[in-house]
Amino acid sequence: MSHRNIILIGPMGSGKSTIGNIIARRLHREFQDSDYYIEKRTGVDIARIFDIEGEQGFRDRESSALHDLLSQNNRVIATGGGSVLREENQKLLKQKGFIVFLDTTVNQQMQRLARDKKRPLLQTENPRERLESLLQERRPIYLDLADLVVKTDKRVAWRLAADIISQLPDSLK
Ligand code: S3P
Repeated sequence: MSHRNIILIGPMGSGKSTIGNIIARRLHREFQDSDYYIEKRTGVDIARIFDIEGEQGFRDRESSALHDLLSQNNRVIATGGGSVLREENQKLLKQKGFIVFLDTTVNQQMQRLARDKKRPLLQTENPRERLESLLQERRPIYLDLADLVVKTDKRVAWRLAADIISQLPDSLK
């Protein structure tokens, strides 16, 4: 394995940023969050990018952010929930890292995101329905890409992080 990135994928509210941060600290690696990187680069938040450039514009920025972030090695990277949609991103993720899928239920997502105002895709009449349809569309892709699948329900972040670390290949620890 030439790459040594650990890449977290999964839907909104699955804990990618929180868990990624913990894993990075434990393994003394740099942590990067794709959404945060895009916001820093553009100087505006994700919702504003959706407003101005639409979802396609955001997805272009997301693909470019993934290229930047994965041009380095030894990082822990939290991706956005929709970053697995484009085939070019799927290839890149597979090439550049060990992929961990945080497998979450819509109930857990709802607990975390019920009052969320930052995620444009959830600003709808019925966020639960939106989360269900996104998960139905994307879960097969997450599963297909994953080197490791971890169920996140009712488990605290530090425990999940420890669990993930214990299941990483030795070359990544
Ligand atoms: C999105 C997930 C968000 C963010 C954007 C779109 C998606 O990231 O990239 O709002 O398509 O699922 P998180 O998964 O970090 O919430």
